[in-house]
Amino acid sequence: MASDWTRHHAEKSLERILPRIQKDLENEIFSASEEWNQFEHRLRREFPRLFQILVELYGGHYDFFFHLEALLAATARSWMTRPEDLKALDAERESRPDWFLGQEVVGGALYVDLFSDNLAGLGDHIDYFKAMGLSYLHLMPLFAVPHDDNDGGYAVSDYRAVNPELGTMAQLAEVAQRLRSEGISLVLDFVFNHTSDEHAWARAAASGNSEYQAFYHIFPDRHMPDQYERHLRDIFPTVRRGSFTWHEGMGQWVWTTFNSFQWDLNYGNPAVFRAMVEEMLFLANTGVEVLRLDAVAFIWKRLGTDCENQPEAHKIIQAFNALARMAAPALLFKSEAIVHPDEVLRYIDPWECQLSYNPMLMALLWEALATRQPRLLEIAMHNRSRIPEGCTWVNYLRCHDDIGWTFDDSDARSIGIDPGAHRHFLNEFYTGQFPGSFATGLPFQFNPANGDLRISGTLASLAGLEQAVEAEDPHLVDMAVRRIIMLRSIVMSIGGIPLIYLGEEWGLLNDYSFATDERKARDSRWVHRPKTHWEEVARWEAPGTLGRRIYDETAQLIRLRKQLRALYNGGMEVMSTQNPHLFGYIRQKNGQRLLIINNFSEHPQTMAENRLRLYGPGYRFIDHITGETHSAKAPLQIGPYQFLWLENKPA
Ligand code: GLC
Ligand code: GLC
Repeated sequence: MASDWTRHHAEKSLERILPRIQKDLENEIFSASEEWNQFEHRLRREFPRLFQILVELYGGHYDFFFHLEALLAATARSWMTRPEDLKALDAERESRPDWFLGQEVVGGALYVDLFSDNLAGLGDHIDYFKAMGLSYLHLMPLFAVPHDDNDGGYAVSDYRAVNPELGTMAQLAEVAQRLRSEGISLVLDFVFNHTSDEHAWARAAASGNSEYQAFYHIFPDRHMPDQYERHLRDIFPTVRRGSFTWHEGMGQWVWTTFNSFQWDLNYGNPAVFRAMVEEMLFLANTGVEVLRLDAVAFIWKRLGTDCENQPEAHKIIQAFNALARMAAPALLFKSEAIVHPDEVLRYIDPWECQLSYNPMLMALLWEALATRQPRLLEIAMHNRSRIPEGCTWVNYLRCHDDIGWTFDDSDARSIGIDPGAHRHFLNEFYTGQFPGSFATGLPFQFNPANGDLRISGTLASLAGLEQAVEAEDPHLVDMAVRRIIMLRSIVMSIGGIPLIYLGEEWGLLNDYSFATDERKARDSRWVHRPKTHWEEVARWEAPGTLGRRIYDETAQLIRLRKQLRALYNGGMEVMSTQNPHLFGYIRQKNGQRLLIINNFSEHPQTMAENRLRLYGPGYRFIDHITGETHSAKAPLQIGPYQFLWLENKPA
C-alpha cells in the first residue's frame, strides 16, 4: 500500500498530468464523457499504488515524469478506444470478480496450426470445445515470428500482427468474440521477457540505433557477461552454453536467456516498460480475457544473483496489473513461473497474477506415479499450495513444455529422500531407462556440467500407453488408461482450474516425426506437440476404442466437477490415509464436503474404516464416480489406480 508521502506526491502529480491528458484526448472525451468519467474514477483509485511502484522502479530517471505522462495518456487512449462489447464485459466482470473461481471453469490449450491449420479453421471446432465442457481456451502464441525456428511462437516479431500463416488480427478478434458468445474465455500469451531478433526494435538495435540498443541487454565484450554468468542457470544448455549470444553485425554480446534468437528486454529502461504496456493493452483490446505472462521469473537482472524472481519482476507485473485495471478491467493475468515452489507462490496475488500454473503439483503427480507413493506430494501440497483469496491455480498434467522436477529439497530430505539422486531416478524412469518403467519419454536439455535434465512426452506415453499398445497387452493398456484418468481426476478435483492440453482427451501418443524437420529436430518438446489428424480422431470416436474410452471418462469427470459445489476454488486439505499408496484430500466449500482418495499403485489397497468415520455423522458414503455406496463400518477397498469422490450421506 502507498505511504502517506507517496499518496501526497501521487495526488500532486496526477493533478498536474490529468489536464494535459484531457487536452490530448479532447475529441474522444467530448463524444464520450461518461466513459472518460469511468476512466478517471479508476485512474484515481489505482494511481497511488501505481505511482509508488513506478517511483521505486524508475524514479531515478531524469525523464521520469515524461514517461509517466506518456504512459497514462496511452492507457487512457486504450480505454477510450476499447470496443463496446469489451467494455460491457468489463462491467460484468467488475460486478462478479470471482467469475473464474467456480467449479464450472475448465480450460483447454492448443496450437492453432497443429489443431486446425489456421484461425479460420478453429471456428469449425467451437462445438467440439463446448461438447467437452471447456470454458477457457489458451491459443499458443500466434503472432508474427521468424520463419525458421521460432520456439513454437515464443519469439515474437510483432505483437500487433498475427502470423500470416494463421490468419489476421481481424480474424483473431472475431474468434475471441465467437468464443465469448459461447461462454469460452480466450487466453493468449504475453511474451514480454524477450522479442525475436526480427522485431523492429531488435532490427533497429542491430543496425546501430543506440536508443533501441538500450531496449536490450547488449555488451561490447565478455567483461559483464562473464560476471553475470557466474550465477546464471542455463535454460537451454543444448542450444548454447551460457546466456549470451555474440551478434556479428553489432560486434557485441546480447543477453538471450532462451534461444539465441530471443533477445531479453531491458526493463530497467522505462521506455521498454512503457512500450510493452502499450503492446499489452493492444492485446487486451483484441478480446483476450486472460494473459499468460510468459517467463515472468526472468524479467529483471541483477548482478551477483541468478537473475530470477527479483523483487522488481514482481513490481513490473504489479504495475501492469494496475494499468490493466484502469484500461481493461476484465483482463486477468496468469503467471508462468517454473521455479522453486515458494517463488511460484510469490507471483500469486489479486494485485499481481490472479492465476498461476501449478508446476509443483504437476511434477509431483508424475513423481508419485513413478514411486507409487504420494508422500512427497502430500508434504508439498500441505506446505506450499495455499494461495490468497481471489486467486486460483491452473492445474495441468502436461503442457507444450517439458517436465522439470520442481520440489523443495528440504521437503524431500524430511522423508529421507536424497533430492539429487531422486531427480536422477525420475529422469531415468521417464526416459524409460529404469528397469520396469512403464514410461516412454525423451530427454530435454541435458546439461553435462551439472547433470540437469528435463523430460518431454505426452500424457499418454509417459503414463505407459505407448509401451502397452506396442506390447499389445490389454492388461497393460488398462493400467495405463487408469493412470491417465486418475491423474486427470486429481487435477479436476484438487482445487483450481483444470487445463487440458488438447490431444490428451484422446490419449495422443508421442510423435517422433519432429526429428526429420529442420526447424524442430533439436527441440524434443516437439514430441508432445503432435498435429491433430482429424481422420484419426474420427476413428477414435467409434464406441469401444481406446481413444473413446479416454475421451468419455474425461468428459464424465468434467461434467461431474461442474455439478459439485465443493469443488469451487479453495478449501483443500490433505488427509492422512495411513496407507503409503493412497493420496487423499478433503474439499470443503459451499456446504458440501468431499473426500477424494486415489490409489497410486497397480495393486488393490485398503483404507481403515476409522479414517472414514472421522468424516461422519453416519456411516454411509456415496462415491460420485461410480454411484456406489460405501460403509464406514468396514475398510474401504480401492482397486489399482482407482479414485473415489466420496460424500457422507447419512441415510
Ligand atoms: C516459456 C514457454 C516456453 C518458451 C520460453 C521462452 O517458458 O512456455 O515454451 O520456450 O518461455 O519464451
Ligand atoms: C525453464 C523456465 C521456463 C521455461 C522452460 C522451458 O523451466 O523456467 O520458463 O518454460 O524452462 O523449457
